[in-house]
Amino acid sequence: MQWGADSYLVKPFNLEQIVILVERLLSDHFLILFKEKERLDAEQRMMLASITSLITALEARDSYTRGHSEAVAALVTEMGIQMNAADEEIESLGMAGRLHDIGKIGVPDNILLKPDLLSDDEFAVFKRHPTIGASILGVISSIRPILPVILHHHEQFDGKGYPDGLKGDKIALWARMTAVADTYHALVSDRPYRRGKSPEKAMEVIEEVCGTQLCPECVAVFRGLPRKLLESHV
Ligand SMILES: [Fe+2]
Repeated sequence: MQWGADSYLVKPFNLEQIVILVERLLSDHFLILFKEKERLDAEQRMMLASITSLITALEARDSYTRGHSEAVAALVTEMGIQMNAADEEIESLGMAGRLHDIGKIGVPDNILLKPDLLSDDEFAVFKRHPTIGASILGVISSIRPILPVILHHHEQFDGKGYPDGLKGDKIALWARMTAVADTYHALVSDRPYRRGKSPEKAMEVIEEVCGTQLCPECVAVFRGLPRKLLESHV
Protein backbone atom coordinates (compact mmCIF):
# COMPACT_ATOMS: atom_id res chain seq x y z
CA MET A 1 0.00 0.00 0.00
CA GLN A 2 1.36 3.45 -0.91
CA TRP A 3 0.46 6.70 0.76
CA GLY A 4 1.05 9.72 -1.45
CA ALA A 5 0.37 13.45 -1.33
CA ASP A 6 -2.94 13.18 -3.17
CA SER A 7 -4.58 15.79 -0.92
CA TYR A 8 -3.06 19.13 -0.06
CA LEU A 9 -4.00 22.60 1.14
CA VAL A 10 -3.04 25.89 -0.39
CA LYS A 11 -2.09 28.54 2.19
CA PRO A 12 -3.79 30.47 3.68
CA PHE A 13 -6.35 27.86 4.84
CA ASN A 14 -9.11 27.88 7.41
CA LEU A 15 -10.45 25.36 9.91
CA GLU A 16 -13.35 24.35 7.66
CA GLN A 17 -10.93 23.37 4.89
CA ILE A 18 -8.89 21.29 7.33
CA VAL A 19 -12.02 19.46 8.50
CA ILE A 20 -13.06 18.73 4.89
CA LEU A 21 -9.56 17.49 4.07
CA VAL A 22 -9.34 15.23 7.15
CA GLU A 23 -12.80 13.80 6.35
CA ARG A 24 -11.67 13.07 2.80
CA LEU A 25 -8.45 11.40 3.92
CA LEU A 26 -10.33 9.30 6.47
CA SER A 27 -12.97 8.21 3.97
CA ASP A 28 -10.20 7.17 1.52
CA HIS A 29 -8.51 5.26 4.34
CA PHE A 30 -11.74 3.50 5.34
CA LEU A 31 -12.44 2.61 1.72
CA ILE A 32 -9.02 0.90 1.52
CA LEU A 33 -9.66 -0.94 4.81
CA PHE A 34 -13.12 -1.97 3.62
CA LYS A 35 -11.71 -3.36 0.35
CA GLU A 36 -8.99 -5.21 2.28
CA LYS A 37 -11.62 -6.74 4.58
CA GLU A 38 -13.68 -7.83 1.55
CA ARG A 39 -10.56 -9.48 0.08
CA LEU A 40 -9.81 -11.31 3.34
CA ASP A 41 -13.46 -12.42 3.65
CA ALA A 42 -13.35 -13.83 0.11
CA GLU A 43 -10.09 -15.64 0.92
CA GLN A 44 -11.65 -17.05 4.12
CA ARG A 45 -14.72 -18.29 2.18
CA MET A 46 -12.47 -20.00 -0.40
CA MET A 47 -10.42 -21.60 2.35
CA LEU A 48 -13.52 -22.91 4.11
CA ALA A 49 -14.85 -24.30 0.81
CA SER A 50 -11.54 -26.14 0.22
CA ILE A 51 -11.52 -27.56 3.74
CA THR A 52 -15.15 -28.62 3.44
CA SER A 53 -14.23 -30.53 0.25
CA LEU A 54 -11.38 -32.27 2.07
CA ILE A 55 -13.64 -33.25 4.96
CA THR A 56 -16.33 -34.49 2.58
CA ALA A 57 -13.74 -36.63 0.77
CA LEU A 58 -12.57 -38.16 4.06
CA GLU A 59 -16.10 -38.74 5.38
CA ALA A 60 -17.16 -40.41 2.14
CA ARG A 61 -14.46 -43.02 2.82
CA ASP A 62 -14.88 -43.42 6.56
CA SER A 63 -18.33 -42.89 8.04
CA TYR A 64 -16.97 -43.29 11.61
CA THR A 65 -14.85 -40.15 11.19
CA ARG A 66 -17.90 -38.05 10.29
CA GLY A 67 -19.83 -38.67 13.48
CA HIS A 68 -16.60 -38.66 15.45
CA SER A 69 -15.34 -35.27 14.22
CA GLU A 70 -18.74 -33.65 14.79
CA ALA A 71 -18.94 -35.06 18.32
CA VAL A 72 -15.39 -33.99 19.23
CA ALA A 73 -16.13 -30.50 17.83
CA ALA A 74 -19.31 -30.21 19.96
CA LEU A 75 -17.60 -31.49 23.13
CA VAL A 76 -14.49 -29.36 22.82
CA THR A 77 -16.58 -26.28 21.98
CA GLU A 78 -18.54 -26.77 25.21
CA MET A 79 -15.25 -27.19 27.11
CA GLY A 80 -14.15 -23.81 25.72
CA ILE A 81 -17.44 -22.24 26.85
CA GLN A 82 -17.02 -23.70 30.35
CA MET A 83 -13.49 -22.23 30.45
CA ASN A 84 -14.87 -18.77 29.52
CA ALA A 85 -12.77 -18.68 26.35
CA ALA A 86 -13.29 -15.76 23.95
CA ASP A 87 -15.83 -16.25 21.12
CA GLU A 88 -13.05 -16.42 18.50
CA GLU A 89 -11.22 -19.11 20.49
CA ILE A 90 -14.41 -21.14 20.87
CA GLU A 91 -14.96 -20.93 17.11
CA SER A 92 -11.38 -22.07 16.46
CA LEU A 93 -11.76 -24.93 18.95
CA GLY A 94 -14.85 -26.14 17.07
CA MET A 95 -12.97 -26.04 13.79
CA ALA A 96 -10.02 -27.87 15.38
CA GLY A 97 -12.37 -30.60 16.60
CA ARG A 98 -13.91 -30.90 13.17
CA LEU A 99 -10.49 -31.11 11.45
CA HIS A 100 -8.35 -32.96 13.99
CA ASP A 101 -8.37 -36.25 12.05
CA ILE A 102 -8.18 -34.76 8.52
CA GLY A 103 -4.80 -36.48 8.06
CA LYS A 104 -6.62 -39.83 7.94
CA ILE A 105 -7.21 -38.90 4.30
CA GLY A 106 -3.60 -40.06 3.77
CA VAL A 107 -4.05 -43.42 5.54
CA PRO A 108 -4.64 -46.36 3.13
CA ASP A 109 -8.12 -47.99 3.07
CA ASN A 110 -6.83 -51.39 4.23
CA ILE A 111 -5.69 -49.76 7.47
CA LEU A 112 -8.25 -46.95 7.95
CA LEU A 113 -11.23 -49.23 7.28
CA LYS A 114 -9.86 -52.47 8.77
CA PRO A 115 -12.63 -54.09 10.83
CA ASP A 116 -10.13 -55.69 13.26
CA LEU A 117 -7.45 -54.34 15.58
CA LEU A 118 -4.40 -53.03 13.73
CA SER A 119 -1.08 -54.88 13.72
CA ASP A 120 1.99 -52.99 15.00
CA ASP A 121 3.08 -52.18 11.44
CA GLU A 122 -0.39 -50.99 10.47
CA PHE A 123 -0.62 -48.90 13.64
CA ALA A 124 2.72 -47.28 12.76
CA VAL A 125 1.17 -46.13 9.47
CA PHE A 126 -2.05 -44.98 11.19
CA LYS A 127 0.04 -42.93 13.63
CA ARG A 128 1.18 -40.72 10.77
CA HIS A 129 -2.25 -39.08 10.44
CA PRO A 130 -1.52 -36.07 12.74
CA THR A 131 1.63 -35.22 10.75
CA ILE A 132 -0.17 -35.70 7.43
CA GLY A 133 -3.03 -33.46 8.63
CA ALA A 134 -0.65 -30.72 9.76
CA SER A 135 1.19 -30.77 6.44
CA ILE A 136 -2.09 -30.58 4.47
CA LEU A 137 -3.41 -27.62 6.48
CA GLY A 138 -0.07 -25.97 7.29
CA VAL A 139 -0.11 -23.99 4.03
CA ILE A 140 -3.29 -22.12 5.03
CA SER A 141 -2.26 -19.14 7.15
CA SER A 142 -5.63 -18.64 8.88
CA ILE A 143 -5.57 -22.29 10.05
CA ARG A 144 -2.25 -21.84 11.86
CA PRO A 145 -3.74 -21.34 15.36
CA ILE A 146 -5.31 -24.82 15.25
CA LEU A 147 -2.33 -26.67 13.77
CA PRO A 148 -1.08 -27.74 17.24
CA VAL A 149 -4.41 -29.57 17.71
CA ILE A 150 -4.08 -31.38 14.38
CA LEU A 151 -0.46 -32.31 15.12
CA HIS A 152 -0.64 -33.09 18.84
CA HIS A 153 -4.10 -34.51 19.62
CA HIS A 154 -2.50 -37.96 20.24
CA GLU A 155 0.23 -36.72 22.59
CA GLN A 156 -0.15 -38.01 26.15
CA PHE A 157 0.24 -35.97 29.33
CA ASP A 158 2.98 -38.37 30.51
CA GLY A 159 4.94 -38.01 27.27
CA LYS A 160 4.07 -41.46 25.89
CA GLY A 161 1.95 -40.25 22.98
CA TYR A 162 2.76 -39.45 19.36
CA PRO A 163 4.08 -38.00 17.08
CA ASP A 164 6.54 -36.04 19.26
CA GLY A 165 6.24 -37.57 22.74
CA LEU A 166 5.51 -34.12 24.22
CA LYS A 167 4.79 -33.99 27.94
CA GLY A 168 2.47 -31.93 30.21
CA ASP A 169 2.01 -28.32 29.27
CA LYS A 170 4.50 -28.67 26.41
CA ILE A 171 1.38 -29.99 24.65
CA ALA A 172 -0.81 -27.05 23.55
CA LEU A 173 -3.88 -26.60 25.79
CA TRP A 174 -6.32 -26.96 22.87
CA ALA A 175 -4.63 -30.26 21.89
CA ARG A 176 -4.93 -31.54 25.50
CA MET A 177 -8.60 -30.53 25.55
CA THR A 178 -9.24 -32.23 22.20
CA ALA A 179 -7.50 -35.38 23.48
CA VAL A 180 -10.08 -35.70 26.30
CA ALA A 181 -13.07 -35.20 23.97
CA ASP A 182 -11.46 -37.54 21.40
CA THR A 183 -10.85 -40.27 23.99
CA TYR A 184 -14.39 -40.00 25.42
CA HIS A 185 -16.05 -40.27 22.03
CA ALA A 186 -13.80 -43.17 20.94
CA LEU A 187 -14.79 -45.02 24.15
CA VAL A 188 -18.56 -44.59 23.71
CA SER A 189 -18.51 -45.43 19.98
CA ASP A 190 -19.31 -48.87 18.59
CA ARG A 191 -16.47 -50.22 16.48
CA PRO A 192 -16.56 -53.41 14.39
CA TYR A 193 -14.29 -55.13 16.96
CA ARG A 194 -16.03 -53.93 20.18
CA ARG A 195 -19.21 -52.34 21.57
CA GLY A 196 -19.11 -48.75 22.78
CA LYS A 197 -19.14 -48.12 26.54
CA SER A 198 -21.88 -46.28 28.42
CA PRO A 199 -21.13 -42.63 29.36
CA GLU A 200 -20.56 -43.74 32.99
CA LYS A 201 -18.07 -46.48 32.01
CA ALA A 202 -16.34 -44.11 29.58
CA MET A 203 -15.99 -41.51 32.36
CA GLU A 204 -14.50 -44.20 34.64
CA VAL A 205 -11.83 -44.91 32.01
CA ILE A 206 -11.19 -41.16 31.58
CA GLU A 207 -10.65 -40.88 35.37
CA GLU A 208 -8.29 -43.90 35.30
CA VAL A 209 -6.05 -42.28 32.67
CA CYS A 210 -6.30 -38.74 34.13
CA GLY A 211 -2.75 -37.55 34.84
CA THR A 212 -1.09 -40.25 32.71
CA GLN A 213 -2.71 -40.15 29.28
CA LEU A 214 -4.91 -37.09 29.80
CA CYS A 215 -4.36 -33.62 31.28
CA PRO A 216 -5.96 -33.37 34.76
CA GLU A 217 -7.04 -29.73 34.23
CA CYS A 218 -8.83 -30.66 31.00
CA VAL A 219 -10.44 -33.74 32.58
CA ALA A 220 -11.74 -31.47 35.36
CA VAL A 221 -13.41 -29.26 32.75
CA PHE A 222 -14.78 -32.30 30.91
CA ARG A 223 -16.22 -33.68 34.16
CA GLY A 224 -18.31 -30.50 34.45
CA LEU A 225 -19.91 -30.79 31.00
CA PRO A 226 -23.70 -31.13 30.93
CA ARG A 227 -24.70 -34.78 31.24
CA LYS A 228 -27.18 -34.36 28.34
CA LEU A 229 -24.36 -33.27 26.02
CA LEU A 230 -22.28 -36.36 26.92
CA GLU A 231 -25.28 -38.65 26.35
CA SER A 232 -26.19 -37.01 23.04
CA HIS A 233 -22.88 -38.16 21.53
CA VAL A 234 -23.20 -41.84 22.42
FE1 LIG B 1 -6.65 -38.84 15.56
